[in-house]
Amino acid sequence: MKVCAVAAARPNFMKLAPVVAALEAARVEVVLVHSGQHYDPMMSDVFFEELALREPDHHLGVGSGTHAGQTAGVMVAFEPLLDALDADVVMVVGDVNSTVACALVAAKAGVAVAHVEAGLRSRDWSMPEEINRVVVDRISDVLLAPSPDGVENLLAEGRPSESIHLVGNVMIDTLLTNLDRARARPVLGDLGLTEGGYGFVTMHRPANVDDPWVLRTVAEALVRVARECPLVFPAHPRTAQKLDALDLGPDITVTGPVGYLDSLALQAGARIVLTDSGGIQEETTVLGVPCLTLRDNTERPITIAEGTNQLVGRDPERIVKAARAVLHDGVETRRPALWDGHASERIVAALLGR
Ligand code: UD1
Repeated sequence: MKVCAVAAARPNFMKLAPVVAALEAARVEVVLVHSGQHYDPMMSDVFFEELALREPDHHLGVGSGTHAGQTAGVMVAFEPLLDALDADVVMVVGDVNSTVACALVAAKAGVAVAHVEAGLRSRDWSMPEEINRVVVDRISDVLLAPSPDGVENLLAEGRPSESIHLVGNVMIDTLLTNLDRARARPVLGDLGLTEGGYGFVTMHRPANVDDPWVLRTVAEALVRVARECPLVFPAHPRTAQKLDALDLGPDITVTGPVGYLDSLALQAGARIVLTDSGGIQEETTVLGVPCLTLRDNTERPITIAEGTNQLVGRDPERIVKAARAVLHDGVETRRPALWDGHASERIVAALLGR
């Protein structure tokens, strides 16, 4: 079997690393393609180095753009490559624009599509990722779900049960493999932080950072939380451009994007995490760190039902109240089934058994 695996954007790399390793250990031929959606060294290269994800066999070099421009750019670049590869399966991960672009090309070329992280739904159609998820799952042949809610969503949408596999969460494979290495990093000391003495913030969703009024409102809440617990905020490039106009006060340290290991170290040592990321909702659940999600919905409800996550939206009063509560009371630690470090092996078994 020959699998063409597509890497594209920051949240893809830690999901793909263990799957590529498990496929290659099972002697499956893997052709690794990087679309170039993320291209800055700290948004891409650092993840390949830290996670021992090998150099991609092909770079599409597409870069940034509008949704249509970026998606179309990946499709135009991927089509002739896929024609030349003679792959049996195209494996796509997550919900970014490159994921839907490559899935569409493969489906029309008659090549089977396998989707890692299938079935997640926020039911929020204003999120570009929700459109990507639904389209990708509709045209995928192998649906690899991280949690039972994903399976239920796929069945409710009429996807055939024989194409759905509950495999668990590959992101957690990578977390469990790398947690000790992450904890050994000097990042806390370098930033003047002590274990349990600070909060960790990330924000990059267009709904939170593109509207200056919304960003200012959330930032005001962060400033209030930071007076009680200093915050460190590694800013995504999309966010960094917008933060310059705001005064975040002395208790919020803004840095550039951090690599995987430092992100994990900073989460593991934090007393509280505030984020609009999807993956961080999952990572904090496994680390047992309270997570406040700065959104009104989540495609990962299991992190609320069985983890440490809660939705707090963007209302400053609600954010500050929830932060005070978890800073005072902490949270109960639980972990969803099959978030056990072996999801990649189950993915290989699902692919080989089809
Ligand atoms: C994308 C994904 C989002 C994911 C996020 C993780 C889509 C629709 N969105 O959002 O689901 O959570 O990645 O980071 O695919 N930029 C750089 N350097 C880079 C990459 C981007 O400076 O290496 C800047 C550019 O100004 C670019 C902007 O970030 O225009 C947005 O990048 P883009 O890939 O369009 O979307 P993200 O916001 O990163």
